Amino acid sequence: MLIKIAKPSDLHESDVTPESIYLSRRRFMGGIAGLGAGLALPGNVSANADYSDVPEGNAPAWLEEKISDTQWRAITPSDPEQDALTPFDDASGYNNFFEFGTDKRDPARHADSLETQPWSVVVDGEVNNGGRIALEDLARPSQFEERIYRLRCVEAWSMVIPWLGIPLAEVIKRADPTSKANYVRFETLVDPEQMRGQRSSFSIIDWPYVEGLRLDEAMHPLTLLAMGMYGRELPNQNGAPLRLVVPWKYGFKSIKSIVRISLVEEQPMNTWQQIAPDEYGFYANVNPDVDHPRWSQATERRLPNTLFRPNIIETQLFNGYADEVASLYAGLDLRTHY
Ligand code: MTE
Repeated sequence: MLIKIAKPSDLHESDVTPESIYLSRRRFMGGIAGLGAGLALPGNVSANADYSDVPEGNAPAWLEEKISDTQWRAITPSDPEQDALTPFDDASGYNNFFEFGTDKRDPARHADSLETQPWSVVVDGEVNNGGRIALEDLARPSQFEERIYRLRCVEAWSMVIPWLGIPLAEVIKRADPTSKANYVRFETLVDPEQMRGQRSSFSIIDWPYVEGLRLDEAMHPLTLLAMGMYGRELPNQNGAPLRLVVPWKYGFKSIKSIVRISLVEEQPMNTWQQIAPDEYGFYANVNPDVDHPRWSQATERRLPNTLFRPNIIETQLFNGYADEVASLYAGLDLRTHY
């Protein structure tokens, strides 16, 4: 995996030059033309990611087309040493997806049982233009973008993953929220036939898995609805066919296999907050200064790692995205609102 990454401090929107981006397997020719109106993401000048070792998936034709039409490539804060892409095998083999079991290898073993085609998402609540939307129709009006983001789990491991998807903001705008919409609530599919973890009587989760964001967090340009990674569609274990990616928050906010997006007035109760409110809050912003009651959040184990090379790195406030998102929390006590 060859990738050239500049430091965040080296990068400005004006540095993002048009250059052919080449992803060997997918005819992935896209010009980096900038980062969109109003976007101030640190972008990478040139990056050549080789996904030739990533196995072929089984994407429907419309998704193949969207993927090969990806034109934007924003690489967010990165350190050349630390932030090399996590190998696909680690990103797709070490997962949290409790619908398929609690062991990190369970999702890769069992998520094939999930039928992701066709798929639709209900957009409802405080919107003028809601309804059930086929995934293809949800994706069609938007340009696919590739975003390379850090993913920091609350359990103190982390990865660097190249996602493919569309800004959540675009989907929300099309739904035309009413003036009462203050939060966005997300739900994962419930289907014990397809999701063996939902059949377990030992599960501590009251299905569906639920997550939520404040409306301004949901509208933030970093917030992505991912439909792919590593130049292909999402593997089931990573949340196919549609998952949220909120890179400055702990991984549990990035809800997988979404079937419902609701604009709501009140702050929703999310799954982990419901299970252990002392340990997991609504905000879940990555913060090295606010420890989990049972472990430190000051450092993280960057995958891949081994017993002999533990690869422990320092955790950064907002997972390294403070320049982009800290203003969302001005005046908010991050210790109380963990
Ligand atoms: N979404 C659902 N529906 N169910 C889950 O168990 N786990 C979360 C999040 N999204 C989870 C989920 C947690 S704890 C993390 S860290 C990330 O997914 C892990 O994403 P990954 O397996 O793609 O690395």
